[in-house]
Amino acid sequence: MTSSPDRAPMDWEQRFRDETTPWERPGLHPAFEAWQAEGAFDPVDTVIVPGCGRAPELKAFAALGKAAIGADLSATALAWQKRQLEADGLTGELIEADILLWRPDTPMDAVYEQTFLCAIPPKLRDEYEQAVHAWLKPGGQLFALFMQKAEMGGPPYGCSIPAMRELFPAERWDWPDGDPAPYPHPSLNGKPELAVILTRR
Ligand SMILES: C[S@@+](CC[C@H](N)C(=O)[O-])C[C@H]1O[C@@H](n2cnc3c(N)ncnc32)[C@H](O)[C@@H]1O
Repeated sequence: MTSSPDRAPMDWEQRFRDETTPWERPGLHPAFEAWQAEGAFDPVDTVIVPGCGRAPELKAFAALGKAAIGADLSATALAWQKRQLEADGLTGELIEADILLWRPDTPMDAVYEQTFLCAIPPKLRDEYEQAVHAWLKPGGQLFALFMQKAEMGGPPYGCSIPAMRELFPAERWDWPDGDPAPYPHPSLNGKPELAVILTRR
């Protein structure tokens, strides 16, 4: 699906066709594995992975028995996700859309955010926060990996914790105590992603 350049300045579809996807990790995100190991996903029945690209976490959620939705602008990425699910006899819903404009019929338990917020133009961030808030039921959780980057420009665009606290204000989101765990990216010059679980109020 094509989106206007002001909403998606990068040609994501072409990146997947060209296999120029440096944001991809070689396997499951270690934060996903840690959250799974500690039972953080146990209460989750329904989850959406916005801007899922070829992230293997979508299939992993389906394999855990979750009703998982993957959403992306790229038909090529979604076709890859479909093949991955079918290869293991799993099901999931795949939505080809500008997902910030989408709303579910029924609010969901969880959103899994991995290199999507940092990929959209910063001027769409308020729209992102409103969308994620609308997707989630009260008490629903945003499993977020906030990309840390000091340099200007993007994508990826940096998601510093002060900026995220402003974007996800305490009146609308409960923040956990303590410092978030950093996960350096194996490419992208080792930029760390900070793992934070926010709870929708
Ligand atoms: C940097 S990639 C990350 C892909 C995936 N999350 C991962 O971890 O490998 C950003 C993804 O967001 C998708 N995307 C960008 N803007 C979007 C939008 N408005 N709606 C849906 N998907 C979008 C792109 O097509 C691309 O797959």
